[in-house]
Amino acid sequence: PNLGKLPISIRIVLESLLRNNDGLKVTEKDINNLASYNAAVPGEYEIPFVVARIVLQDFTGVPLLVDLAAMRSAVHGMGLDAKMIEPLVPVDLVVDHSVQVDYAGTAASLEKNLDLEFHRNRERYEFLKWGEQAFDTFKVVPPGIGIVHQVNLEYLAKCVLEKNGVYYPDTLVGTDSHTTMINGLGVVGWGVGGIEAEAGMLGQPVTFLVPEVVGVYLTGELQTGVTATDLVLLVTEILRKTKVVGKFVEFYGPGAKALSLPDRATIANMAPEYGATMGFFGIDEVTTGYLAGTGRSAELCATVENYYKAQGLWGIPTVKDALQFTQVVEMDLSSVKPGVAGPKRPQDRIDVDNLKAKWGELLAAPVAEGGFAKTESKTAVVHVNSKDGVADKIGHGSILIAAITSCTNTSNPSVMLAAGLLAKKANAYGLKVNPSVKTSLGPGSRVVTDYLTKTGLQEELDKLGFQTVGYGCTTCIGNSGPLDSGIEDVVKAEDIVAASVLSGNRNFEARVHQSVKANFLMSPPLVVAYALAGTVDIDLATEPVGKTPKGEPVFLADIWPSGQEITDAMTSSLKPDVFQRLYTGFSDQNPKWNEIKSSTGDVYEWDRESTYIQEPPFFEGFSPAPRDIVEIHGARPLGIFADSVTTDHISPAGAIKMDSPAGRYLREKGVGFADFNSYGSRRGNDRVMTRGTFANVRIKNLMVPGIEGGVTSIGGETKAIYDAAAIYQEDTIPTIIIGGEDYGMGSSRDWAAKGTNLLGVKAVITKSFERIHRSNLVGMGVLPCNFVNKEDYDKIKDLADAIFDLTGIDNDLKPMQTATLQVHPSTGESFDVPVIVRIDTPVEKDYYRAGGILPYVLA
Ligand code: F3S
Repeated sequence: PNLGKLPISIRIVLESLLRNNDGLKVTEKDINNLASYNAAVPGEYEIPFVVARIVLQDFTGVPLLVDLAAMRSAVHGMGLDAKMIEPLVPVDLVVDHSVQVDYAGTAASLEKNLDLEFHRNRERYEFLKWGEQAFDTFKVVPPGIGIVHQVNLEYLAKCVLEKNGVYYPDTLVGTDSHTTMINGLGVVGWGVGGIEAEAGMLGQPVTFLVPEVVGVYLTGELQTGVTATDLVLLVTEILRKTKVVGKFVEFYGPGAKALSLPDRATIANMAPEYGATMGFFGIDEVTTGYLAGTGRSAELCATVENYYKAQGLWGIPTVKDALQFTQVVEMDLSSVKPGVAGPKRPQDRIDVDNLKAKWGELLAAPVAEGGFAKTESKTAVVHVNSKDGVADKIGHGSILIAAITSCTNTSNPSVMLAAGLLAKKANAYGLKVNPSVKTSLGPGSRVVTDYLTKTGLQEELDKLGFQTVGYGCTTCIGNSGPLDSGIEDVVKAEDIVAASVLSGNRNFEARVHQSVKANFLMSPPLVVAYALAGTVDIDLATEPVGKTPKGEPVFLADIWPSGQEITDAMTSSLKPDVFQRLYTGFSDQNPKWNEIKSSTGDVYEWDRESTYIQEPPFFEGFSPAPRDIVEIHGARPLGIFADSVTTDHISPAGAIKMDSPAGRYLREKGVGFADFNSYGSRRGNDRVMTRGTFANVRIKNLMVPGIEGGVTSIGGETKAIYDAAAIYQEDTIPTIIIGGEDYGMGSSRDWAAKGTNLLGVKAVITKSFERIHRSNLVGMGVLPCNFVNKEDYDKIKDLADAIFDLTGIDNDLKPMQTATLQVHPSTGESFDVPVIVRIDTPVEKDYYRAGGILPYVLA
């Protein structure tokens, strides 16, 4: 192959294989397979990849540390040195997912939320402190500092690393799907399940199949008033249609070269939303300029430039056929218009000036078509108790949450300062936000506060209620906190389709808040604008965003900041020294972290009473010998689901319901409802998480039509899925899950696979899988399969009482081989359905035979 024509992302992986392959057998064949990726048959060649480092966030990182601690306990129990279990590559865990927006809209919100966060998560934080002292290469960025991907971008990433005098590319995997944000800085990396990351830490390669690489050739430039958020929403819409799932995407062309680094990072961030493994930009002077601008040393910047130039990997090509991609998609940046995406999926983009018309259509459209099936308008009066019972009116489309949130955008000073400048103009006109809107600002680093304060724009945002509520994921991960009870009751009683507007990257129903059904993604300045308007049922091109105290209309164009104003604000406030200073001496900035006690020692002393951290049963009955691959006979379905089941449906991150199996467990343990916390924060406790699996009320089990999720049918009775699974396990009856298209889409949540395993599910058979969840199922010893003929799903979806056999598999199993699902309905003839076993690679077969990656590593 002509190396010079290979996409840069592929060549960086090759560089990495050649220079950072410690202890791994990287063969010439591996190199050739990757180098000739264009001729490779997708799904055929797996590449063993040793990444340079690993990043974790706390929701996924805590359970990973729990598993490491459990492995140490297992090794210690065998009379061996616990220190044998030690990460072999540096691991950084950033605590960002736990802070919740309990308080918003006042100067004290930040401190109060932080207090509550430490109160709720003390046990988890003590455990993290134990981990930091027990493992040499495990570092924690404490709560209240920032969001993992922004911290990575602004502080952790180096672009080039050095070991024993050998320089090699900075590469990584992270246990969060938006790890791809770092692709904007030219760092190869993506999100994996915690299970895979754990294996990577312990010396296993992070394998991936030789990918197709789609080149996105960008030309032109963004027009005045158009933001990076508008651009990424269009990129997401276009690439979803291009079908880039499982592929690398590499941006190039004059348009890509001219983009600022934060704009590149915003585009890279949403790779999971467009479905790609990566959204990559090469390294050039914009990259080193950003490194210097964020206070990285001149020496590092020079090393990066010299290294990538010496390897012929420097720069973003501007000629369309400069590199050989499997497919090229062209996009003219000047065609991008201000837009939003929603109300349920990030790829459903709508021009701002078309939102009113589209909202009307969506409101009336059937639910199956993405609508809300509401044909009558509604208006209800609410009394906002948190604001002294002040009255407000709400109806369909009323905005109840307006959040400047998420790594996608808070890492980008141009859009954050634009929000502040818009707020300043709105204040000058005397505009106000409706009392029923919960407003918040949750930046991904303290640097944001620094530049917003320096420009005086934080004060302007404060006046509209956008006070800082925490440095973390906040509303983006669904930690939007409670709504005013006066409002929430009315929304429920009147069945109002309320809306949220947020600068995040995901908007699945109920991700943001259980009572808010329509969620629109947009740039931070648009979040402020829509908060002022109070509704999404508005055409901001022709209708006023608000009125002055004298009743004069003010339009969006009147308050939209100019490009020059944004540039001036950036020039005056972004200072390199601030970045690194705010990231060093974490403890000075967060005395609460210092006060946390930490236990010591190499082996963790499990507290049997803890409701947060428990020793998981993954190593019970551990045997180093691989198990036999056997057919599955007499299986019952535990769930039959439609298309687009997300990992959040399978393993929710949000609030634990009082009457759910997990709620019952916590009550039995004496935990008061106010201290239930979220599933996300209890991922260190397998008892809670197994009970929470499939407990999201938004997942509809076709076996019990018309009933909220979390239940199934067993012997003609409707029971919670956990309770039914317990009966099946007691009776040693195997269970399976049937799913539709894109099963397991969404985040890299490993508990979606761990919980499936601990419920006793033996196989998950779907029309298709999202990449990470499939690999996580294998990593937990659960067999993923796809229907050979997707229409066979329709023959099965109503057979809640059927019995299933999965035949044609044994120890000779070949990756991607076919097997037979024999279906025995309770009435009528049995029939066979062919399926493909989605064990994709030889090493996955080894994992499956071991019962999962963890026992495999331990063996
Ligand atoms: Fe957190 Fe949302 Fe980013 S959950 S890591 S802010 S995508």
